[in-house]
Amino acid sequence: MCGIIGYIGGGNAAENVLEGLRRLEYRGYDSAGLAVIGGNGKISVVKRQGRVEKLAPLITEMRGCVGIGHTRWATHGRPCDANAHPHSAGAVTVVHNGIIENYAELKAAFIEKGETFFSETDSEVLAKLVNKNFSGDILTALAAAVKVVKGSYALMAICENTQAIAVAKSKSSVILGFGDGENFCASDEPALAGKCKNICSLEDGDIALITRDKIEIFDSKLKPVKRKLRPNVAVSASLDLCGCPHYMLKELKEVPASVKNTISAFYDVEGELKKALDGVNRIIIVGCGTAYHAGLLGKRYFESFARVPVEVETAGEFRYKDPVMTEKTAVFAISQSGETADTVEAARLALSMGAKVVAVTNAPYSQLTRLASVVVPVAAGPEICVAATKSYTGQITALYLAALAFAGKKTAELEKMPGLCQKVIEDIDINTLAQMCARSNGVYFLGKDLDYAVALEGSLKLKEVSYIPSEGYPAGELKHGTLALIDGNTVSVALMFDKALAGKCENAVEQVLSRGGRAAVITNDTEVYNNFSKRCEVLLLPECDKYLSPLISAVVVQAIAYETAVILGRDPDKPRNLAKSVTVE
Ligand code: M6R
Repeated sequence: MCGIIGYIGGGNAAENVLEGLRRLEYRGYDSAGLAVIGGNGKISVVKRQGRVEKLAPLITEMRGCVGIGHTRWATHGRPCDANAHPHSAGAVTVVHNGIIENYAELKAAFIEKGETFFSETDSEVLAKLVNKNFSGDILTALAAAVKVVKGSYALMAICENTQAIAVAKSKSSVILGFGDGENFCASDEPALAGKCKNICSLEDGDIALITRDKIEIFDSKLKPVKRKLRPNVAVSASLDLCGCPHYMLKELKEVPASVKNTISAFYDVEGELKKALDGVNRIIIVGCGTAYHAGLLGKRYFESFARVPVEVETAGEFRYKDPVMTEKTAVFAISQSGETADTVEAARLALSMGAKVVAVTNAPYSQLTRLASVVVPVAAGPEICVAATKSYTGQITALYLAALAFAGKKTAELEKMPGLCQKVIEDIDINTLAQMCARSNGVYFLGKDLDYAVALEGSLKLKEVSYIPSEGYPAGELKHGTLALIDGNTVSVALMFDKALAGKCENAVEQVLSRGGRAAVITNDTEVYNNFSKRCEVLLLPECDKYLSPLISAVVVQAIAYETAVILGRDPDKPRNLAKSVTVE
């Protein structure tokens, strides 16, 4: 999964492409590269393992009006210069986002014919295929090449002595940008923010030919087709750190605004949502990673407030489980980016089976937004750090409101939460606990019911940014096996925000302490505080409605992950091996 961008026009192609790659880096930052057709018609390629910025000193001499670029998150082949895109074969050079599922057999056939491969990627076969079909026309060569390919692709191809970019799309998204004397193509809209007046999305099977003055779109048989133009209203994320050392901290501080703005945005769609959910008797919630964790809370909200049965599935599992859905099923697809392949495909499957799809997303112009029956906005604002923070609390807020609306209920409790989140961010001192985590061999987050859902999120966040092994457990499960791992080098962090269940979770902490384990408690219950304050680290948070307590406990577990990463000298904004938006399976 990667970011790709193409430029053709009167400007310097290398600089335009590099700027686009900087904006797309959240999609992958293992390696980056770009290719430009120079004045002599020849193609120059630069590519490097590492961040996009490594290309800047390499393009100072590159001149040319046509360019394509790529920022990579490795799927096939380790991150290294050779595996970085673009890939070339003969006169053709390509960049690719997606996965070619039949690349091994295609590659074997080329090797049998004596071709040499220079990378371990699946994408290099695309360069070979386009080159094999090339006899002077890049468009027909591309159309013929993709006919034999299985998998997903957003593919851009250029060839020597041709002032054009040919583009093909299947499953991975491609946006075309219509400028004035210049045109663009990219894997998503933020890359084109402020660059052109109008944009359009390609559909699966489309092939496009982009020249300086026009963009032509064809179906897979090269019959011209029209795709709807829309104004380019995308905004690129502000890169201002606002005095914070990392985006993760800046975005944690934006949690109160995320909750507040999501509440305001909800009232614009409440009527439409109620209408879409009329007659619905079953809800399925899908998402990945942090979005899935928000879904676990969503299930509790819908079931408690509306007594409607809800299932929650990770989107990648749901797709392959032969799920049962009817027109009375509503599928809530949660995704910060709205581009996560598993979530988008799960939503597509639900639609094809007649279910209603509600997108809960922070990305108003994403694939998920475009295909959903209704969109419940998460108004967290652009999130740059790979680790989700404010988008999670925004998702919880959106799901809470959606469940209340479905149940026909109202409460004023939510209005208090932006202020409480602000208070927690300002007052809470998590340094001692972060030091304990940083010095541990493993951290177990424990909780019951709603607290268990937040425990899973705390564990994911800690793993993601600090690389410390961690697990989230229902407090009662500890004694069924995991207790064997507890010793003086482990830390168990118990979340207790439900008075009725606190006693049960307290038992788990006692079991940890009595076996010499290190423990910490995060609670807003003064009785729990008094019980443990002299025996282990305890963080006392403000009282609030139990259903909304995840908004404040999430801030604390995410802050612990951040602080632990900083203590260990990790980069919390760009953790190793990850990308912000996972657009492949
Ligand atoms: O953009 P999405 O919400 O669909 O992304 C889903 C996950 O990839 C994402 O939440 C991931 O788990 C985060 N990096 C966790 O912090």
